[in-house]
Amino acid sequence: MEKSRVLIIGVTGNLGQHLAKATLQFSHPTFALVRPSSFSDPHKSDKLHSLSNSGVTLLQGSLEDEESLMAAMKQVDVVICAVSSKQVLLQKLLVQVIKKSGCIKRFIPSEFGLDPEKTRISDMDYNFYKQKSEIRRFVEAHGIPYTYISCNFYMSYLLPQLVQPGLKVPPRDKVTIFGDGNTKGVFVKESDVAEFTIRTLDDPQTLNKVLYLRPTGNVYSMNELVELWEGKIGKKLEKIFVSEQELLKKIKAGWPADMAAILSADVAVILFSLIIRSSLLL
Ligand SMILES: NC(=O)c1ccc[n+]([C@@H]2O[C@H](COP(=O)([O-])OP(=O)(O)OC[C@H]3O[C@@H](n4cnc5c(N)ncnc54)[C@H](OP(=O)(O)O)[C@@H]3O)[C@@H](O)[C@H]2O)c1
Repeated sequence: MEKSRVLIIGVTGNLGQHLAKATLQFSHPTFALVRPSSFSDPHKSDKLHSLSNSGVTLLQGSLEDEESLMAAMKQVDVVICAVSSKQVLLQKLLVQVIKKSGCIKRFIPSEFGLDPEKTRISDMDYNFYKQKSEIRRFVEAHGIPYTYISCNFYMSYLLPQLVQPGLKVPPRDKVTIFGDGNTKGVFVKESDVAEFTIRTLDDPQTLNKVLYLRPTGNVYSMNELVELWEGKIGKKLEKIFVSEQELLKKIKAGWPADMAAILSADVAVILFSLIIRSSLLL
């Protein structure tokens, strides 16, 4: 079977770069829509150079530029979007262009997290989940073939520091546990999220469905993670339990201060998600 030609939007981003690598790895002709500003950014242009050398065809354009989107559609049959949570609603023009082009057999919108239909996180998520749901409805209303990737947590977020905000490595003396520590989270490597995503492109079973990534070996509660770490360092840690109410209060007060600059909303959402009932495993 001929491999789908794949357009990725967001290759200079965290997940996007893994998606580009996986698309090439599975021998799909690979295209990337890149904003002109990225070519003049030294760090991003290095990344783009390396992707181009590996075989990715770089197309200049943006989610806000209809002409560039339509030109890109003409070259591909699958579109994957990996813009950040804050940019999710920018996908509306893309959806309209996909519809107009009539040639796209699968669209994967930027989700790659918890299922937005099943996640309720107080009022602290800056409407990320609401907006992802809004895009789902928009895609469906336009009759575009889709797959939604619900991959749970990126492993690189918080797992290397044992879910301890503000730390870079796991603690060796005391550990903070959110809630009772028994709620399970699913931690998946970004490169695996990318591989699963690419494997689904030509699979008819995943057409117009949500694909849940929940490898059994990647499902752990805080208590289980701490126990594993204690086994590795041969030492018991002092456990400090923080209840759901306390955590909410701390997050609302801007805690932890040094993390506020980096993705404070995402971190708050992730932390809070860890202790809210069953949404992680749905
Ligand atoms: N499951 C988890 O734990 C988890 C954690 C974090 C994120 N996520 C999800 O993963 C997805 C991707 O997020 P990310 O953090 O990988 O994103 P990111 O690193 O912020 O990258 C965003 C990408 O989108 C591109 N972009 C932004 N605006 C654009 C526009 N108008 N037109 C074209 N391209 C544009 C950026 O290009 P430039 O180089 O031009 O800026 C960049 O390549 C999101 O849905 C997010 O919610 C999940």
